[in-house]
Amino acid sequence: MSQTLTLRRPDDMHLHLRDGAMLEGVLPETARHFARAIVMPNLVPPVVTAAEAAAYRDRILAALPEGQTFEPLMTLYLTEATAPSDVAAAAASGLVRAVKLYPAGATTNSQSGVRDFDKVRGVLETMAGIGLPLCVHGEVTDPAVDIFDREAVFIDRVLDPIRRATPGLKVVMEHITTKEGVAYARSGGADLGATITTHHLIINRNHILVGGIRPHYYCLPVAKREVHRLALREAATSGEVRFFLGTDSAPHADPLKENACGCAGCFTATNTMPILAHVFEEDGALDRLEAFTSLNGAAFYGLKPNPGHLTLAKTAEAARWPAKIDTGAGPVTVFDPGFPVRWHVRD
Ligand code: DOR
Ligand code: ZN
Repeated sequence: MSQTLTLRRPDDMHLHLRDGAMLEGVLPETARHFARAIVMPNLVPPVVTAAEAAAYRDRILAALPEGQTFEPLMTLYLTEATAPSDVAAAAASGLVRAVKLYPAGATTNSQSGVRDFDKVRGVLETMAGIGLPLCVHGEVTDPAVDIFDREAVFIDRVLDPIRRATPGLKVVMEHITTKEGVAYARSGGADLGATITTHHLIINRNHILVGGIRPHYYCLPVAKREVHRLALREAATSGEVRFFLGTDSAPHADPLKENACGCAGCFTATNTMPILAHVFEEDGALDRLEAFTSLNGAAFYGLKPNPGHLTLAKTAEAARWPAKIDTGAGPVTVFDPGFPVRWHVRD
């Protein structure tokens, strides 16, 4: 008899779907298991206006294969020129669920992001007034700050001042990677949440660098020391409402990863749910997996849990998934956790 676990259908509260042929290739990987996802706006050019978000949403729905259902939860990319009125209208119509803050230069396609945080004060105040969450890529870009310290420094220099100056602003600390991130998330109330990725629960910086450089483990924020990975495991499996899944599944075609200057991003859409079941079982927290993947994120965004369910089964045989997804934009390597996973999603 195999062991089974049935959850409310999960949501991915931080996902990169891209556009065109890449979108068509990766969307089915997410829609197979997830009912909804917060879709990141860092296209080239970025999704800045409500009209652009509406058009992107239509392209996502058009790319969905027959027989799959999926609800994209759209975001706007915050620039220094973003108009508070456009944000308010996009939120009021129900089209846009959050605004994404990229410090300019922090990561993939962040060049149009924010340099001077004072220039977005008006937008942030409008968002606080209407309860629209700000999703934050929390890394400073100061070249003097070591890449492994950029998250902790961002919290002190940027995030905490923004939150103090904008009472009531709902903030999601995206893809936290440090014990400082965990602690800061816990210092907030119901207006502060934090997403945790699948890969940051599995890898530390040794996995990227020991015995050769492994480009498919390189992402931003970069994985940190083991002590930080363990803090993330403890937070994710705690059941606390402030922590929820945002995979940051971020496809790049293999030639762009296996490159002298490889792109940042791990592609985990395909195997996130089996890997998370493995992690939560290992930490004695299988009964809290549903909170992490299906309840806490929805509650933060003011959404009902999905009506459908997903069943996972543990068998003697290890789960199998393709090493790569073939997309019209090139092959995309699926994240390899580096150990056998015995949990499968039951179709
Ligand atoms: O690893 C990452 N990839 N981190 C990000 O913040 C962006 C993402 C991407 O878009 O590829
Ligand atoms: Zn991301």
